[in-house]
Amino acid sequence: MSTVSCILALGLFCCALGAHFQEDEKMSAVRRLQRELGSDEERHSSERTELSKRSAGLNEQTCTALPGVEATLHNNSHSFTFKVRTMGSLSLAWVGDGSGVLLVLTTFQVPLFMMRFGQSNLYRSEDYGKTFKDVTHLINHTFIQTEFGIAISPDHSGKVMLTGDVSDVGGFRLFRSRDFGMTFVPTDLPFEPLIQMLYNPGDCNTLLTLSITLDLWLSEDFGATWRKIHDSVCLVRWGPKNSIYFTTNYNGSCNDRGMLELRKTADYGRSFQTIATRVYSFVLGGRFVFASIMTGTGTERMIHVSVDGGEVWNMAQLPTVNHEQFYSILSANQDMIFMHVDDPGDSGVGTIYVSDDRGAVFSKSLERHLYTTTGSDTDFTPISSLRGVYLTSILTQDGSVETVITFDQGANWQTLRRPENSHCDTETSTNRPNRCRLHIHASYSTTMKMNVPILPVSQANAVGLILAHGSVGDAESTLSPDVYVSDDGGYSWLLALKGPHHYAILDSGGLLVAVEHTNSPVNQIKFSTDEGQCWHTYNFTNDPLRFSGMDSEPGSRSMNVSLWGYRNNFSKWVVITIDFRKLLGRDCTEGDYVEWLAHSADISGANDGCVLGFKETFLRLRKDSVCCNGRDYAVTKKLSPCACTVNDYHCDFGYYRPENSSDCVLQEELKSRPLEFCLNGTTEQLQTSGYRKIPGDQCEGGFQPERKETDLRRMCTSNALSPNSLIEHGSPSTAVVVIFVIAILLISAVAGVWLVKKYICGGRFLVHRYSVMREHVEANKIEGVDDIDTHYMETGKAQYNEDSDQDLLE
Ligand SMILES: *[C@@H]1O[C@H](CO)[C@@H](O)[C@H](O)[C@H]1NC(C)=O
Ligand SMILES: *[C@@H]1O[C@H](CO)[C@@H](O)[C@H](O)[C@H]1NC(C)=O
Ligand SMILES: *[C@@H]1O[C@H](CO)[C@@H](O)[C@H](O)[C@H]1NC(C)=O
Ligand SMILES: *[C@@H]1O[C@H](CO)[C@@H](O)[C@H](O)[C@H]1NC(C)=O
Ligand SMILES: *[C@@H]1O[C@H](CO)[C@@H](O)[C@H](O)[C@H]1NC(C)=O
Ligand SMILES: *[C@@H]1O[C@H](CO)[C@@H](O)[C@H](O)[C@H]1NC(C)=O
Ligand SMILES: *[C@@H]1O[C@H](CO)[C@@H](O)[C@H](O)[C@H]1NC(C)=O
Ligand SMILES: *[C@@H]1O[C@H](CO)[C@@H](O)[C@H](O)[C@H]1NC(C)=O
Repeated sequence: MSTVSCILALGLFCCALGAHFQEDEKMSAVRRLQRELGSDEERHSSERTELSKRSAGLNEQTCTALPGVEATLHNNSHSFTFKVRTMGSLSLAWVGDGSGVLLVLTTFQVPLFMMRFGQSNLYRSEDYGKTFKDVTHLINHTFIQTEFGIAISPDHSGKVMLTGDVSDVGGFRLFRSRDFGMTFVPTDLPFEPLIQMLYNPGDCNTLLTLSITLDLWLSEDFGATWRKIHDSVCLVRWGPKNSIYFTTNYNGSCNDRGMLELRKTADYGRSFQTIATRVYSFVLGGRFVFASIMTGTGTERMIHVSVDGGEVWNMAQLPTVNHEQFYSILSANQDMIFMHVDDPGDSGVGTIYVSDDRGAVFSKSLERHLYTTTGSDTDFTPISSLRGVYLTSILTQDGSVETVITFDQGANWQTLRRPENSHCDTETSTNRPNRCRLHIHASYSTTMKMNVPILPVSQANAVGLILAHGSVGDAESTLSPDVYVSDDGGYSWLLALKGPHHYAILDSGGLLVAVEHTNSPVNQIKFSTDEGQCWHTYNFTNDPLRFSGMDSEPGSRSMNVSLWGYRNNFSKWVVITIDFRKLLGRDCTEGDYVEWLAHSADISGANDGCVLGFKETFLRLRKDSVCCNGRDYAVTKKLSPCACTVNDYHCDFGYYRPENSSDCVLQEELKSRPLEFCLNGTTEQLQTSGYRKIPGDQCEGGFQPERKETDLRRMCTSNALSPNSLIEHGSPSTAVVVIFVIAILLISAVAGVWLVKKYICGGRFLVHRYSVMREHVEANKIEGVDDIDTHYMETGKAQYNEDSDQDLLE
């Protein structure tokens, strides 16, 4: 006890020291992108009518005040002050889907004399964060390390697991709950865990973890008993159908990369199968298993891909790269992946390649793609509110960063149009007014320490909506960014709010909320009921708050939003939760929705709205309707097929699209060489007119270019199990070094964990971090691979969360 109070006193002192860091703290506060994928659900159809013009504009001054805002919201704002001070860290986890249960774990820890002392408090809310109860006694006041956090089962069944540190009496103790954190059962662990517990997405009673001695432990009864199933494990992942993939080493060092074995078990560790040797790293994504495997000589590595869980491997047909370059998977879905291949030299750019449905044959999609090697700084962002849309940045020849967007899964890229209601920053555009475009700020801007508090946001159930920070000019401006909104999936943009803000999508897009990002205390929340055209304000307190972050239930179905922060003279955590239900009033009815054809550019064209072979007509909320979509809202859409055009094709292996052209042209360096690649152990010759259908494209008839792969019956080896002869035709001795950075964000839907970390006495004072967990368990489709820190995996299905450092594969 005396230790604890000593630590608290120390913490207070540090807090005083830390006060002047608050400027930095705000600047570096990065709220991770939160996104829901899963557009795969088939929704019901509706009738087709003409399009309505959806965009108006901030400047049109047509906004009218909503009646009774102050009175209504005042009655529906709830404030709660935690007894613990704002030092230490605060993790927040939503339990279940629509249960309203929120667990908050505050942890205060100091490394002292090679040991760690700390104190944790656990709070529980059952009403979406309006009130909390201190339930620390449920875990017997045990110290929970922040790294282990709160492990929520991804199936919404209300399972919660906390890993307590009872090293004073020896060892680690699990606190297990099956009832949304109402009660916890303590269980002593027979080992010391290294990483957070990993739920099997297909069966959340089964868990995996690694011990600090690199033993792999498994429990089949929700953590009650544990069984050691393997030793010397470096990296482990749940795969589909209860399978487990892991790399192992026999000489005791996971640093000996390239000498690892990739193994798999399908029966919870009763038998094992080695599926590849000389492995450097691996990743599971979409239907694919990728592994970087040492080739015969030296330090060369090559990516291999399998679509059958590691039985048959093929070499990925990517251009050869030298040992200073890297590969990185930007995004993967069921059909294909986006792969970044670094350019030679330290240029910070590379080329995006898109794969075929085997993950083996790649074609060039975008050149000069910005991806710096310092950290993992790429702006690549899948837009989940519209099919086929991805945003990213390129570095132009003259050295400026420019945002580009694709609406057809990487077949064509274009710059963004200038928002009609904005003006170019004079500084950058006076000499070239024609290059006045919108630039979106994403990860790269945040690592460049620009004033961007939050990454672009889109949600599958908020059709067409994107909220993002941006600036207008001919390159990314360093001036303070503004908030822009798009209501058509990125075709057109509107200046929504001046200056940087924290923002969130609520009620499936029916409500947007924003809080200004400033260094002074705030008392105002802004909100919009018309997709960001008109914004209203509400003063949620008379005593302004030092704002730390905004949070709502993952999945954007909620109408409750919580603002976290603390007050100047009372530096305890405060949460203010505002319920917009009453303000929105009635439930939306049929008449509140209009039909909207996605991807529509030219209403008269027969192929208008066709993307990847079909059109989608959605029912969307009218902008002028103020009503609740409600929790049960489901996106309604009608599909209709399209005839094939050149836009339904990627350029084939060896071909590319020159700028402004939709025709595919053979790459200069490949002219007069046969197009050959190795597949299933024999050389295939490709006869192509330059087009390859985009994986997942459903177009019928129309443009059908010829394409043939001929088996030359010449042996080549892509068999990872006998890697000595892994030499590709025509490109001998090129070092292929694979830094295999995974590209995944754990998309949050209903279970989420929010961490606000405060480093005591450190330079970095307050860091927001999202680590989120997946729900939607459908074991047969996808396994989770997750790097919480930066990227996106477009899986949309079962995923789980774990310590992020474990997930960066190189
Ligand atoms: C706010 O609550 C008070 C008392 O609970 C009630 O009298 C008043 O009508 C409410 N106001 C509104 C606008 O709902
Ligand atoms: C709670 O912790 C105390 C001291 O650490 C210990 O003596 C007590 O047995 C624990 N109680 C339970 C129910 O675990
Ligand atoms: C283990 O290390 C020894 C020497 O360091 C080496 O000869 C042997 O091949 C290694 N075994 C494996 C499986 O890497
Ligand atoms: C709300 O707060 C702002 C300052 O943040 C103040 O200027 C404004 O007058 C307040 N509005 C109301 C209605 O109290
Ligand atoms: C907001 O919170 C209240 C409980 O405080 C809950 O009853 C309501 O369902 C929540 N609204 C939504 C849309 O989640
Ligand atoms: C500070 O604390 C006092 C009482 O403890 C309170 O009255 C006051 O509103 C607080 N806020 C500020 C900004 O002084
Ligand atoms: C592409 O088109 C744009 C506008 O249509 C034009 O400004 C640009 O010069 C074109 N680029 C090339 C390489 O033709
Ligand atoms: C490669 O092997 C897979 C599975 O064995 C098979 O489905 C596929 O058709 C083969 N591809 C070719 C081009 O032979």
